[in-house]
Amino acid sequence: MNVLLVRAEPDAPTIRREVYGHFAEHLGGCIYDGFWVGEDSPIPNTRGIRNDVVAALRRLQPPVLRWPGGCFADEYHWQDGIGPRAQRPPMLNTHWGMVTESNRFGTHEFLDLCAQIGAAPYICGNVGSGTVREMQQWVEYITYGGDSPMSALRRRNGRAEPWPLPYFGVGNENWACGGNMRAEYYADLYRRYQTYVRNLSGNVVFRIACGPNVADYNWTEVLMREAGPFMQGLALHYYTHPGGMAGSTNRAATGFGETEWFSTLRNALYMEELVRQHAAIMDRHDPERRVALVVDEWATWYDANPDAPQGFFYCQQNTLRDALAAGLTLNIFNNHAHRVRMANIAQTANVLQSMVLTRGPEMLMTATYHVFEMYRVHQGATLLPTRLLCDDYTHADQRIPVLSASASRDSAGRVHISLCNVHPSAEARVRCELEGVGVTAASARVLTAPGLDTRNTFEEPSTLMPRGFTDFRLARTTLEVALPSKSVVVFEIA
Ligand code: AHR
Repeated sequence: MNVLLVRAEPDAPTIRREVYGHFAEHLGGCIYDGFWVGEDSPIPNTRGIRNDVVAALRRLQPPVLRWPGGCFADEYHWQDGIGPRAQRPPMLNTHWGMVTESNRFGTHEFLDLCAQIGAAPYICGNVGSGTVREMQQWVEYITYGGDSPMSALRRRNGRAEPWPLPYFGVGNENWACGGNMRAEYYADLYRRYQTYVRNLSGNVVFRIACGPNVADYNWTEVLMREAGPFMQGLALHYYTHPGGMAGSTNRAATGFGETEWFSTLRNALYMEELVRQHAAIMDRHDPERRVALVVDEWATWYDANPDAPQGFFYCQQNTLRDALAAGLTLNIFNNHAHRVRMANIAQTANVLQSMVLTRGPEMLMTATYHVFEMYRVHQGATLLPTRLLCDDYTHADQRIPVLSASASRDSAGRVHISLCNVHPSAEARVRCELEGVGVTAASARVLTAPGLDTRNTFEEPSTLMPRGFTDFRLARTTLEVALPSKSVVVFEIA
C-alpha cells in the first residue's frame, strides 16, 4: 500500500493563483484563429475576439496571460500594433513560419482579451532588437494616467484610461532567439532596460528577468549575483520532449507506445530537479525568497504534425499523456510554492500543449484543459505539505515514482488533494493520512481513458472529460483510495 502523509503547517506558503497562468504568442494559430477572428467574422466574437474560446478560458479562472512571445517578443515593435487596423504595417514573422504578421492584434486587442477572460496581463518587452526608449514608451502608453505624448497617443487610439500592467518581462530567451547573449552581458542589459520600466500613475510593475534555459545553472548564478536586487522574478523555460530511451525515436503527439509514455512522464518529472537546483542558487543570493522563480514557458513538445503547415506547431494533439504531464508538473509547482510564484503553460490555443483547439467555427477543450479546470481549486489556497511513500513504475530498467501528489486548504477550509497515477495499466492503492485536517465528507473527480493517446477530437470532443469518482473510503482522518491506472484524481474534503 502506498502512503501519502498530508499535514497542516502554520507557516506554509500560499499557492499563488499565477502558477496556473497561460502564454499566447504570435505563432501558428494561437493568436489568429485561436483568439482573433476579427469583428466581421461569422464566428461569434466580441470586438474581434472569439466568444467560444473566451467562455472556455473563463471557466479556468486564468490568473495571468503572457504575450506577445516567446521568440516573437524580441522582434516585435509595439507601435506597429496600435491605431486603425487597416493602417498598421505588416511584418515578417521570421521565427514562426516566415508568415506575414498583419499586426491586427496588438496592445489594445491583447488588453481587451485579458479583460474578457479575466486574466492579468503579462507583457514581454523587446530587448533583442528593441530600444530602451521603445520599452519605456510602451509602459508609458499603457499605464500613464497624466498628460504625456504616449498617453495622448493612447487616447487618440480610443482608450482614455490607463490599463493596469502588473507584470513585465525584460526580454525572452536572450541566451538564444532573444539575442544570443552571454549571461554577464544580459545581466547588465537587464539592469539598464528595467530602469525605464517605470511605476507610473500608481501602477506597480513586477519585473521579470530572462532566466535560464533548462539546466543552465550558471545563468541563474550570474543573474542573481549581478542583477538580483533589480528583479522581482526570474524566468525558467523547460519543455518536455519524449526521448532518452534506447530504441525509441517516436516523438509524435499521438500513436505512441509505452516507451514514449514512460519517457515523456519521466522527462516531465525533471521539472522537480530543475526547480530545486535553480531555487538552491536563488536561496544563496536571496535567502528571504523575495525573487520569484517564474516558469513562464513549460509544456510538452512533440514533432509537428507532418500534415500541418511547418513552423506552426499547429494542432499538436493533446492526449491523456499530456493530462498526466500537466498533473505532475502542477503538483511540483504547488509543492514549491515558496519559490515558484508564477508559471505559464505554452500555449493557450492551437500551439503545443494548448487548452483549446479550433477549426474554423469549431472549438474543443483538450485533456490539459480539463486538468487545469480540476486543479483550479489550488489557486490561492494554502499549501498542505505532503510526504509520499510509494512504489515505482518500472519500464525498460528505468523507474519513476508511480504516484505524484499535492494538497492545499482553501479560504473556506476545504482541503483538496490532487493525485496522479502514471502507471499505464495497474491501479494504485494509496492511504492518505490527514494530520491536523478535520474530515467529515469527501468527493472526487477523475480524468482517465482507455488508451494512452486517447484525445478529444472535433468529431468526438467529449471523450476525455472529468467524471465523478467514488472508489475511496473515508475513515476519520484516513482516506483509502484505489486510483485507476493512468489517471488524475482531485479530492475535495470538507
Ligand atoms: O513556445 C514556443 C517557443 O519556445 C517560444 O517562442 C520560445 O520562447 C521557446 O523557445
